[in-house]
Amino acid sequence: MTMRQNRLHAAMEEKQQIQEFRFGEKTNRRRTRTMSVAASDQEEEIEEGKGKEQVVDLDHGDPTVYEQFWQKMGDRSTIVISGWQSMSYLSDVGNICWFLEPEFTKQVRRLHQSVGNAVTEDRHIVVGTGSTQLFQAALYALSPPDAFEPISVVSAIPYYSSYPSITDYLKSGLYKWAGDAYTLKGDEPYIELVTSPNNPDGSIRQAVVNRDGGTVIHDLAYYWPQYTPITCLADHDLMLFTISKCTGHAGIRIGWALVKDKEVARKMTKFIELNTIGVSKDSQLRAAKILQVVSHSCEQLGYPEDSESFFKYASRLMADRWDRLRDAVSQSGLFSLPEFMPESCNYAGEMTTPHPAFAWLKCEGGIEDCENFLRGYNILTRTGKHFGAQGNYVRVSMLDREETFDMFIERLSNIRL
Ligand SMILES: Cc1ncc(COP(=O)(O)O)c(C=O)c1O
Repeated sequence: MTMRQNRLHAAMEEKQQIQEFRFGEKTNRRRTRTMSVAASDQEEEIEEGKGKEQVVDLDHGDPTVYEQFWQKMGDRSTIVISGWQSMSYLSDVGNICWFLEPEFTKQVRRLHQSVGNAVTEDRHIVVGTGSTQLFQAALYALSPPDAFEPISVVSAIPYYSSYPSITDYLKSGLYKWAGDAYTLKGDEPYIELVTSPNNPDGSIRQAVVNRDGGTVIHDLAYYWPQYTPITCLADHDLMLFTISKCTGHAGIRIGWALVKDKEVARKMTKFIELNTIGVSKDSQLRAAKILQVVSHSCEQLGYPEDSESFFKYASRLMADRWDRLRDAVSQSGLFSLPEFMPESCNYAGEMTTPHPAFAWLKCEGGIEDCENFLRGYNILTRTGKHFGAQGNYVRVSMLDREETFDMFIERLSNIRL
């Protein structure tokens, strides 16, 4: 192989690996095939110098949108960890969550205080390898340990597409996926997942079952000012947050839970102990640094006057993307989007409009399979069916890099029947 072929081969392999991370096995197989075809197309394109249309992949929610902000931050967000550091399994032996790094705790509390989006006083913090691990820890902690039947886990349609597979992939005897919260029958105990703002449609949500014997996990991954007005200090029993969607650092794999009940926090910690014997200290320290820079930029300490706070920057960016998307949708005339009303944001101190991390795009004009329709234009999205909804809806990530988003907007605005 020549060096160029080697590089191409490595790039194709990397693409393939990334695809294998994607959620939903059925989607995975098809996407992997689509992308390997796309990759070999690209190879041809490079070999023959042809200008072919590139695949625009907005299926997943990889939050690379904020990369430029972090490039601008330069060394302010850098940490150095020497070989002798972070060696022990233990971090804070006096804490229920004994693998929680004190600096990370400090920065989590500080950020919530600066933004005003969640209560942290008298809450136990449990750190996880992403909120994905914490979600499973919460299911473990909230399920009765010796029930005759696994407890039902529900969420209102359209729900985050990973909930069903994460709940059922181990065929647990403790809990099982039971689908749409609106259709939950009987009076058995249940666990309800409330995602607010919701993935995929950006709506603000509350629990819908509200029965005795139920517990609720609030997934607040998107309750940050760039996505929605911060209208209240969230004060639920179990709240999940993740650095992935807050600052865009999905690769650090850090999430945190704010937990009211000590026993629930203890059981969640136990799950993580059994699952991974704690959470990477290096990742927690890096996450702490990133959160510190964000809080610092919000509080405008030590920054040049012309530099923007992270949330101001991110809000501007999301608003711009949504404006462009709405223009493209109206130019095409074939699609529709949810409408959002402005509300008073306690953080911004003014009325702001929601700009969700995903667009819940509906194909109008009798197109029943919107995912397939858009694939015909080399635009990859995720069908509404993965969210328990109809195939005439797709979820489109608004969090990709600028060049991908530009291509998407251009292509979408030119689609006509
Ligand atoms: C609602 C919701 N919760 C959790 C996650 C996963 O977050 P993490 O990267 O922290 O595992 C996502 C990712 O897309 C999400 O949309």
